Amino acid sequence: MLTVKDVNLHYGAAQALRGVNIQAEMGKITCVLGRNGVGKTSLLRAVTGQHPTSAGEIAFDGKTLDGMAPYARAKQGIGFVPQGREIFPLLTVRENLETGYAPLKRADRSIPDDIFNLFPVLRSMLSRRGGDLSGGQQQQLAIGRAMVTRPKIMVLDEPTEGIQPSIIKDIGRALQYLRDSTGMAILLVEQYLDFCRELADYVYIMDRGEIVHQGTAETLDTEEARRHLTV
Ligand SMILES: Nc1ncnc2c1ncn2[C@@H]1O[C@H](COP(=O)(O)OP(=O)(O)O)[C@@H](O)[C@H]1O
Ligand SMILES: [Mg+2]
Repeated sequence: MLTVKDVNLHYGAAQALRGVNIQAEMGKITCVLGRNGVGKTSLLRAVTGQHPTSAGEIAFDGKTLDGMAPYARAKQGIGFVPQGREIFPLLTVRENLETGYAPLKRADRSIPDDIFNLFPVLRSMLSRRGGDLSGGQQQQLAIGRAMVTRPKIMVLDEPTEGIQPSIIKDIGRALQYLRDSTGMAILLVEQYLDFCRELADYVYIMDRGEIVHQGTAETLDTEEARRHLTV
């Protein structure tokens, strides 16, 4: 389980996270909803080690992650699918997947078949350049690349952003498969309420750097959620 406890994060004098508490359990999809600029990406930077926190504690599997570099967190089993996908445009699809080998021991370096079962289009495009793929295909590739690292928790930053509905469905199915068949924890940051409600087991709503509401997906107050999601 991932535990974020009383975390603050600053950019210079500007505070982006204010006493944030969240948990992401194994075998569950945990969603953090919030509109643009409320601190969702900052929260994931804190979890993945891309930006230092100024207070609080983050732990995974009972071990503190504080002060640990991003590559060391990847070795601990934290897989990351960044906002905007960050595919390497000049590398092939296969090479993009192979960048996921970095945290693995040599003997474990292979591309799991699961990736192609979930996203068959990637198999047919293995020799194409990442930059030649559509946005939706790049999003599938970014999830595949994170799967190569054999994560225990996958952290995704707005995977539906700018993606066509049919591929959003594929991505939803893939996340359910990862949760149900591998017991992975999934921490999903989103603005898309319906996607979140369909998939999530537990939902947090973030506004201006704070968690302002939380509950199980079934008991989520949709009106309250919408109020925080509209500008
Ligand atoms: N690198 C940065 N330097 C300074 N301010 C930043 C930086 N990244 C984000 N911010 C600010 O922090 C706040 C939260 O941003 P962010 O975490 O990206 O929100 P979200 O992902 O929810 O859109 C915003 O006010 C944003 O302008
Ligand atoms: Mg963001």
